Amino acid sequence: MARSSVGSVVVNRGQRSSPGLAVQGKIQVCLRLYLSRISANLVLGRACSRCGISPRTIGIDHLSRLIGEIEPLLSAYLSRFEIRETLKGLRGLQNQQSTDPSDRPIAEGRPHVIEISREEHIDAARTTALRMCRETGLGNVDAVKVATVVSELARNICQYAGEGTITLVLLEHPRPGVRIIAADQGPGIPHLAEVVSGEWRSKTGMGLGLTGSRRLMSAFDIQADQGKGTCITAEKYLL
Ligand SMILES: Nc1ncnc2c1ncn2[C@@H]1O[C@H](COP(=O)(O)OP(=O)(O)OP(=O)(O)O)[C@@H](O)[C@H]1O
Ligand SMILES: [Mg+2]
Repeated sequence: MARSSVGSVVVNRGQRSSPGLAVQGKIQVCLRLYLSRISANLVLGRACSRCGISPRTIGIDHLSRLIGEIEPLLSAYLSRFEIRETLKGLRGLQNQQSTDPSDRPIAEGRPHVIEISREEHIDAARTTALRMCRETGLGNVDAVKVATVVSELARNICQYAGEGTITLVLLEHPRPGVRIIAADQGPGIPHLAEVVSGEWRSKTGMGLGLTGSRRLMSAFDIQADQGKGTCITAEKYLL
């Protein structure tokens, strides 16, 4: 499955159900009160990254942490009145007692956040990824794939955004594995459609880092907003 639009691409090859989509949709509705779709995606992507969760696995129980991260991000886009109204909607969701089983959060390990701004951070992120893969039981071949993707995404952060973070999360349920979230507040990727289709001619490298990384992972999701940043979520499943 592949969906794409300017500045936002979702590629999912993992073929799993997405328990967090119901809650994600409700949050999107609240955010879209005053934000464009792209800005709403970016705000939610960044907030999720800071909480170490994927937008697809959000549960009602994640809401209070997420709202705490969303609130400061809104000030870059909205007036005080608009922020207050948006937060009202989000807090309203918290008060809804959901009976929908898809709203339940997915159990996950503690996120491990690695700051990326220099070359040596790329190696540190790669080493941590290999260690986490061993903990989750991924075989050597898959562990090397995850470490390679971490290196590519960390290198891109250094090269194109200057600084950002790589967050690594051990996944437990419903599918054990590892999640990588690469987030930065750099220029975004205005030519994202070309990059994803393989038509981008890079001036700085081979131009294959993202497309190659996508092939190595079970699920791959790029959110990029021109001038505001990039958030990439990639997952590798054990089963
Ligand atoms: N985090 C980012 N912020 C801004 N632009 C980015 C980011 N990551 C990638 N890009 C843009 O997307 C393009 C493609 O990235 P990709 O990693 O696929 O290839 P590359 O870095 O050019 O070459 P290489 O094959 O050596 O990785 C880059 O040339 C750059 O323009
Ligand atoms: Mg690259």
